[in-house]
Amino acid sequence: MSEPTPAVAATVQALQQRLGTQAPEFAVLLGSGWGPLAERVQDAVTVPYAELPAFPVLAVGGHAGALKVGTLQHGGRNVRVAVLAGRKHAYETGSADGMKGVVHSLAAWGVKVLVQTNAAGSLEAAMPPGALMLIEDHINFVQASPLVGLTGDDRFVDMSAAYCPALRAQALAAAAAAGATLHRGVYAWVLGPQFETPAEIRMLKLLGAHAVGMSTVPETILARHAGLRVLGLSMMTNMAAGLSDENLSHAHTMLTARAAADAAVELLLALLVDLKP
Ligand code: HPA
Repeated sequence: MSEPTPAVAATVQALQQRLGTQAPEFAVLLGSGWGPLAERVQDAVTVPYAELPAFPVLAVGGHAGALKVGTLQHGGRNVRVAVLAGRKHAYETGSADGMKGVVHSLAAWGVKVLVQTNAAGSLEAAMPPGALMLIEDHINFVQASPLVGLTGDDRFVDMSAAYCPALRAQALAAAAAAGATLHRGVYAWVLGPQFETPAEIRMLKLLGAHAVGMSTVPETILARHAGLRVLGLSMMTNMAAGLSDENLSHAHTMLTARAAADAAVELLLALLVDLKP
């Protein structure tokens, strides 16, 4: 990685002043539906994104974005985490680098692992709405990169094990120990904000995707470039277009997400307290 930008340097300084020089090893980026995890952070120190110069300004009306650092507990074990509530999506600006300053700041602070969560449409009958999927690999269907414009040989990032195999094995073991079903599959990134057509979903299925969504892939690329290991979890909020009689809408996916959130958050907690960085 090249020298931090002034905004990243200022952000790291602010993080160190507010939260200490010892960064948590794990950062958890909360996608749609996963918000309730933030309420489980104990002894939390909350820093609004607006106070961190390299963090994005998020759309007004929704959540303003906040970083919450503290402890998560589950089954007598605990883990210190940085929870990120709020993500800038590429569909907001057309640019894939909306979370670049966030990932660079976390890496420079000393975070080792980025745990990503999202909401996705399912391409598999065996993964109905509410099901959870461990991301084994992704398809960057948008073919956009947050690394465009960077220089240096390290921009040619090896993506052959983008989602850390060791962390995936730990996640599957934690899910099995908790008696929870954790599917495995390939996540395809589409730009959005419109949902897909049924023909697009048939195409993505032919290409090997199991779930489709509008996030995560840019941050995974940024994290791998910055030397962070990545773990990804998708919550199915709907069957993808053409695979059920339901009409697709944001309201509908959020309704399903709310119903599935408790189980999802329990699994995420069980998994996080068992992770080794
Ligand atoms: N398509 C794209 N993104 C999504 C979907 C979907 O069906 N559901 C939740 N996020």
